[in-house]
Amino acid sequence: MPVAKRLLLYMKPYWWRILLAALASSAYGGLDAAFAYMVEPLLKKIFMSKDMFIFSFLPFAIILIFVFRAICRYLNDYFMNTAAQLAVQDVRNEIFRKNVFLDLQFFNRNQTGSLMSRVVTDVAAMQNGVAETISGVFRDSIGLVSLLGVIFYRDWQLAMISILVIPFTIYPASVLGKKIKTTARKGQDEAGYFASILQETLSGIKVVKAFSLENSMIEQFTRANLKYYHFTRKMIKYNSLSSPISEVISSLGIAAVIFFGGSKVMAGKLSAPEFFSFITAMALVYSPLKKLIGAYGTAQRCIGSSERVFEIIDAVPEIVDAPNGYTLTPDDNRVEFKNVYFKYQDDYILENVSLVAEKGQMVALVGPSGGGKSTLVSLIARFFETSAGQILIGTHDVREIVKDSLMRHIALVDQETILFHDTVANNIRYGKPDASDDEVIRAAQAAYAHDFIIDMPEGYQTSIGDRGVRLSGGQRQRLCIARAILKNAPILILDEATSALDTESEQMVQRALDNLIENRTTFVIAHRLSTVLHADKIVVLENGSIVESGTHLELIQNSGLYSRLCAVQFNS
Ligand SMILES: Nc1ncnc2c1ncn2[C@@H]1O[C@H](COP(=O)(O)OP(=O)(O)OP(=O)(O)O)[C@@H](O)[C@H]1O
Ligand SMILES: [Mg+2]
Repeated sequence: MPVAKRLLLYMKPYWWRILLAALASSAYGGLDAAFAYMVEPLLKKIFMSKDMFIFSFLPFAIILIFVFRAICRYLNDYFMNTAAQLAVQDVRNEIFRKNVFLDLQFFNRNQTGSLMSRVVTDVAAMQNGVAETISGVFRDSIGLVSLLGVIFYRDWQLAMISILVIPFTIYPASVLGKKIKTTARKGQDEAGYFASILQETLSGIKVVKAFSLENSMIEQFTRANLKYYHFTRKMIKYNSLSSPISEVISSLGIAAVIFFGGSKVMAGKLSAPEFFSFITAMALVYSPLKKLIGAYGTAQRCIGSSERVFEIIDAVPEIVDAPNGYTLTPDDNRVEFKNVYFKYQDDYILENVSLVAEKGQMVALVGPSGGGKSTLVSLIARFFETSAGQILIGTHDVREIVKDSLMRHIALVDQETILFHDTVANNIRYGKPDASDDEVIRAAQAAYAHDFIIDMPEGYQTSIGDRGVRLSGGQRQRLCIARAILKNAPILILDEATSALDTESEQMVQRALDNLIENRTTFVIAHRLSTVLHADKIVVLENGSIVESGTHLELIQNSGLYSRLCAVQFNS
């Protein structure tokens, strides 16, 4: 569907505002023509018949007309802009709704800053564009048509001469409009890029400082900003060209009309008041024409932004719920990987991985960094689609399971501890939105987080920063663990869940986790091997392949990678 049509569909629910705005702007546009038309009778009555009544009435009439015009203008601007704002609000909600449902792969491919700039800047450009274009089209086309009516009524031959130039103004406008659209599009892409730099710098400000990257960041930002300027400069150039070009061309029309019209008046074929009325209408006619041409440029710019917005709205998640998907039951606890292959981009990250976690078992994944451990567990939650092979939960392929049910079935404590800008209690409650305060506190106690939480200024109601900046690494981890405990899901995934804790708290949290792990199928990823010694099965992953698996004792006897890792860590 063409972009413009789609935009109009968003306006549809607010049709009555647009209708009111259109009526007001039509009246506004029509008044100019009425004014130009009135020049002739007024000049006749006042200067030729010396009608004093009309003369004294005239100033009031002028004020009245302008007051009416002002009211129309206000109504038009108010209703048109609110309609555009409401429509754009819907667009913004939709883009956000679509965005959060997209796959992780999409976010791997697109920079956060660029996505943010679409929601913020592009949507704002759409709003301006829509409001300006629609009210412009009503006001100026009514103005144009009615003024043309006046000039044709006054003298059709002169009118023909004056409109001869119109096609010559339209051609450069359409060329400029196309240029504006492509430039706007590129400019917005560039704006997205510098928004990314801004977002990364601010969220990584600590690293920026630690490595004295301030100047290099400034340089990057300045460069991106300059590049953006290059596009805006072009846009300014095209925008600024449109008025002068149409003015110069229309001056040809005015010159011709003055020459031919003047000759007609002198030859007595046209009265002077008629001629002045004509000239007034004609002088006024070029203004809506110019504005319509300008509105075309604005519309093109708006379309450029809309394209960027619709790209996201139209993005289809690759991972979709199977129709009539299966809903997991608490008994579906067995997890099996069957010859799984997976790649993010070109290279396989996991190759021919097969492993079984029986119901209630604890499976530990160990091995060198970058081996694919986090990737492997993320496939259980179907964050990404496998390239080949199967992952079964119970007896069902994850692709057959209703996504919601799958997510309810799995509690994940990720390697990255993500907390939201909210209270401590609410951050824990993400694990179970309807949990009572009591449940939240019990979960926090189990995660050994209760003590430090009540020491905070407002306890559970303390607001933590957008990345929980006011908490230590270990405290953040304990909140994330509390969240998972509260979720109480049959499958538990702990990715380096206790890595930031000191030995003592790790042991305590470990004990809490041991309680939790009972009767649950658990995947534990840990570099500290002491935490996985008692796992039912230890799987050693290296370069995306399973190189060994078995219990601690079996693997030690194997004298493979695991026993070497143990030797290093336990010093024996
Ligand atoms: N989102 C991603 N996009 C592309 N490649 C990725 C992505 N995440 C991880 N990788 C790559 O996949 C490989 C495995 O990463 P993964 O995070 O699974 O390792 P890991 O075993 O969990 O390592 P660690 O012990 O350091 O956490 C790495 O080479 C990494 O570069
Ligand atoms: Mg990892």
